[in-house]
Amino acid sequence: MAGLFAHTLRPALLAASRVERLRRAADRSALTRRVVRRFVPGDSLDEVVEVVVALRDSGRYISSDYLGENVTDADDAADTVRAYLGLLDALGRRDDCAFDGVRPLEVSVKLSALGQALDRDGQKVALENARTICERAQAIGAWVTVDAEDHTTTDSTLSISGDLRVDFPWLGTVLQAYLRRTHGDCAELASQGARVRLCKGAYDEPASVAYRDTADVTDSYLRCLRVLFAGGGYPMVASHDPAIIAAVPALASEFGCDAYEYQMLYGIRDAEQRRLAATGNAVRVYVPFGTQWYGYFMRRLAERPANLAFFVRALSART
Ligand code: FDA
Repeated sequence: MAGLFAHTLRPALLAASRVERLRRAADRSALTRRVVRRFVPGDSLDEVVEVVVALRDSGRYISSDYLGENVTDADDAADTVRAYLGLLDALGRRDDCAFDGVRPLEVSVKLSALGQALDRDGQKVALENARTICERAQAIGAWVTVDAEDHTTTDSTLSISGDLRVDFPWLGTVLQAYLRRTHGDCAELASQGARVRLCKGAYDEPASVAYRDTADVTDSYLRCLRVLFAGGGYPMVASHDPAIIAAVPALASEFGCDAYEYQMLYGIRDAEQRRLAATGNAVRVYVPFGTQWYGYFMRRLAERPANLAFFVRALSART
């Protein structure tokens, strides 16, 4: 079953995540949307702010993502920027922003939603759009982290993140442990003292650039994490994997690193998030919102056979 899922269903789900016709069908189904709520708590700003308040009250930090990716039109990219500014203004009305040390509130951005793939000046447009978001985040005492997308975008994403870090040294960058290059990227960013969110990686990548075997990805993750803890940056351990979470205290103590955080996705291992926060750890929850949830939702289905089974059961319960 695990082999069938990893080699057949997972690639099929990830391919489906890019099919516009399927996205429209999913969007029309009220039932799908009910299942989606487990991972995406709302379409609107008011809904996400309500969730942010509850998570903050439970002692967890936040990184909120306005869903959307691969925009092909500069106006759509500008709409995304406006949505982030609205989100930051709403978060800024709370009294738990911070200008020094760890910032409890953060937004995560996908550069492809900010115009990175536009034919004309995509890289420049995405950089300027991200800069506008960083300026607002800086003004209210929030952080920004740049998400990692498929491997064809990695060079461009790291280049834009590097440019932004000149003015916003607190900017976070996501690295994906399944990419063979990531060990080197971790060393480079750690030597610059950067905030790095390390995740396993959620796209269907070829073996030429990525480890595809589950155990190899976990090994790579642990090797990369070691580099981050040994370096001078701020490691962000973005994983739900018990083996990875269990490895963190020993790494922190070996390298005398007390500035780091655990990160998990909204709706996944909530009890573990609470346990870590209750035992004095910094835990940040990634909270996506918005109507463009299809790609994000399909990647969550592709991560775990049980999620797909849950989805299929919900669909068949109706008939
Ligand atoms: P793994 O997939 O091995 O899961 C370990 C265990 O966690 C499972 O056995 C299960 O118990 C639980 N679990 C994991 N996924 C689950 C799910 N979907 N539903 C229910 N339980 C689940 N990726 C990317 O390519 N670019 C990015 O920018 C980001 N950003 C990001 C931010 C944050 C805060 C997190 C936590 C993750 C990401 N990711 C990401 C996603 C990441 O690459 C990866 O796909 C998922 O985190 C799943 O990998 P795990 O490390 O959790 O391990």
